[in-house]
Amino acid sequence: MPQQSSLFAEPPHEAFAAGAWLLRGFALADAVELVAAIDAVVTLAPFRHVMTPFGKPMSVAMSNCGAVGWVSDRRGYRYEGHDPERNLPWPAMPAVLAALAARAAAAAGYPGFAPDACLINRYVPGAQMTLHQDRDERDFAQPIVSVSLGLPAVFLFGGLTRTDRTIKLPLQHGDVVVWGGPSRRWFHGIRPLRDGEHAWLGRQRLNLTFRVAR
Ligand code: SIN
Ligand code: FE2
Repeated sequence: MPQQSSLFAEPPHEAFAAGAWLLRGFALADAVELVAAIDAVVTLAPFRHVMTPFGKPMSVAMSNCGAVGWVSDRRGYRYEGHDPERNLPWPAMPAVLAALAARAAAAAGYPGFAPDACLINRYVPGAQMTLHQDRDERDFAQPIVSVSLGLPAVFLFGGLTRTDRTIKLPLQHGDVVVWGGPSRRWFHGIRPLRDGEHAWLGRQRLNLTFRVAR
C-alpha cells in the first residue's frame, strides 16, 4: 500500500491558550454540507443586524439554529427559545452541524459536547466583533466551538480582563477554534474583515458558534 500523502494527514492541532485549541482545516471535509445547512436555516430565519443594548446595530448579521438562539436588544443579551423577528421557534440544529461541533470539542479534549445553540454570524468586509466575553450561558464547564468559513479573519484572544494582551490568530476557511476550561470566559473578538473574494463563498465570512446555553 502506498503511504498516505501528508496532504491528507490530519492537520496538527495547536493549543494557543489554556484550554484553547485551533484545529486547522477541521471543518474542510464537511464544508459543502455545512453551507447547505446554513442556507436552509437562514431561508427560514434570515440574517439580521441585531441591536446592542446601547442601541447600535451590530455590523455582523446573525441568525441561529437549535433549541435556543442568542438574541440582543435594548433589554440586553440573552438566549431565547424563539426568534423574536418571526415569533417562531429557531430552526432545528442540522445534524451535520451538531456532529461536527461534537467531534471538534472531543478533538480538543472536551468529550460529550451537545450544543443546544448555534449562532450563525455573517461578516462582510469591514464587519467586526469587538472584544467581549461569552458569559450568557449557564454552565461554564462547557466549551465553545467556533467554525470559520469563507474569507479569512483575524481572531483576537485575550484574558479574563478586557485590557489583557491579545494574541492574533489568523483563521482560514475550514478552521475550527475550541476554547473552554481556564479560558472559557476570556475576552475575544474579530478584527474588521479585510476585503477579499473567497473562491467559493464570495465576499463574506460565515462563522458558526456552538454553545451549551441552558
Ligand atoms: C464570536 O465571538 O461570537 C464570533 C467569533 C467569530 O466570528 O469567529
Ligand atoms: Fe464570542
